[in-house]
Amino acid sequence: MSDHVPPASDRVIIFDTTLRDGEQSPGCSMNTAEKLEVAAALVDLGVDVIEAGFPIASPGDFEAVQAIAREFGDRGPTICGLARCRDEDIDRAGAALADARNRRIHVFLATSSIHREFKLKMDKPEIIRRAIEGVTRARRFVEDVEFSPEDAARTELDFLTEVVEKAIDAGATTVNIPDTVGYATPAQYFQVISHLKKHVRNIDRAIISTHCHNDLGLAVANSLAGVEAGARQIECTINGLGERAGNAALEEIVMALRTRGDFYKVTTGINTRRLCAISRMLSNITGMLVQRNKAIVGQNAFAHEAGIHQHGMLQERSTYEIMRPEDVGYSGTSLVLGKHSGRHAFRDRCAQLGFELTDKQLEQAYQDFTALCDKKKNVYDADLVAIVENRSADAPDRWKLVSFHTSAGTGAIPTATIQLQEEGQPVICDAATGDGPVDAVFHALERLTGISARLQNYQVRSLTVGKEAQGEVLVEIVYNNQVFHGRAASTDIIEASAHSYLKALNKAALGQAGQPKLHAQHAGS
Ligand code: KIV
Ligand code: ZN
Repeated sequence: MSDHVPPASDRVIIFDTTLRDGEQSPGCSMNTAEKLEVAAALVDLGVDVIEAGFPIASPGDFEAVQAIAREFGDRGPTICGLARCRDEDIDRAGAALADARNRRIHVFLATSSIHREFKLKMDKPEIIRRAIEGVTRARRFVEDVEFSPEDAARTELDFLTEVVEKAIDAGATTVNIPDTVGYATPAQYFQVISHLKKHVRNIDRAIISTHCHNDLGLAVANSLAGVEAGARQIECTINGLGERAGNAALEEIVMALRTRGDFYKVTTGINTRRLCAISRMLSNITGMLVQRNKAIVGQNAFAHEAGIHQHGMLQERSTYEIMRPEDVGYSGTSLVLGKHSGRHAFRDRCAQLGFELTDKQLEQAYQDFTALCDKKKNVYDADLVAIVENRSADAPDRWKLVSFHTSAGTGAIPTATIQLQEEGQPVICDAATGDGPVDAVFHALERLTGISARLQNYQVRSLTVGKEAQGEVLVEIVYNNQVFHGRAASTDIIEASAHSYLKALNKAALGQAGQPKLHAQHAGS
């Protein structure tokens, strides 16, 4: 919410923390280019606040917050930077955000007895003093200051009330009530927010925010309970990314508020048709697959298998469907195009799926599409998405796969022969063995690129249905203590494996990974 206009009471502010709390998921670090890409998609999605990072955490975090502030800080969402209640943190956040018109500093300090005693070794008066100092200092840089009493859901209610009141007096315009360890239950969290609404003397001068972690699988339910009690900002992440079991999932929150508008009677500014696309984007960038039956954005979220359901749906959609797939930009397994579909149909379908492609990208994707049509009869939306994302993902590759050949079977040593090419260089070729054809391919690729990485994760799944479905392969490798992801799809899973591993090696060659850094919950406030 730019310019600190308090929202109408029926408007819920969507505060996205994918780039800060979400990025703290193990293996989910992003580099600045990736963060800018995600930030652009969040702007298009219509979030109100983007928490872009924790500037003191690392030079990379500072650079990313600054880049996002410069790029997006005057065209819609407020750009927010996190800071502990420490001078150096707050000054760093202020500096990172300096170029944004719409900016917010989010200061936090733990308040629960367990954190006071064991982490901070501070008594209650000292916590109050530090919170006031933190908010006051942040106000020197920005007018929009958020204060979070970390582990609020486990803090004594009278002390929480006092801290929140003092933070507002010091100038906090949003007070966030984190359930840092995912311990709260909906009824209890409702009580906490209701208590603050009733007992914090100056509460009408600030917006109450929820920030719920998902350790008990209750993050979304708790956030919604907070809204029922009067909270008007929700902190959440795309795909529910975040440390441990993650944060409240933005897509679930937004669709719950929209689908049950009859009950919650609030709105958000989210363009829900972009939900599936941004979910896929995050999954591609972080390598964190979305479970098939995940609400709203999972591949099966709108698939009706049971005959009785299908029958009911044919008669009247609302018998079994509470949301329309198109309202969340869902691309399921509907049959869309075939061998004889022309460029126009292909372009139209890509546009309907939310892809804006240049003529060159479109032509390349169309070539891939016709090649796929030679291999499989039915091409589904999910295939189309994989084609386009395969082409548009990541930075330009250093090496391209020219060809591969494998031989494997019982009683033989699995072997792979691979040809690669670098731009303007002759084709290079090498072979290797392994304990299976995929392993042999990976070894051959490592020999050719000279990059010897540790494979940390390898997953294959079918993109659509039927025997001819494409297999999607996701790899995660570690090289020089950094994690890199690759993803590719093909009707041949060895080919998909080769492409995805090469993608990860290409990223490793460019050193494109997130930076090691200090995480908020480990930061010792
Ligand atoms: O979970 C938490 O308490 C946080 C704070 C930094 C707001 O992420
Ligand atoms: Zn958190």
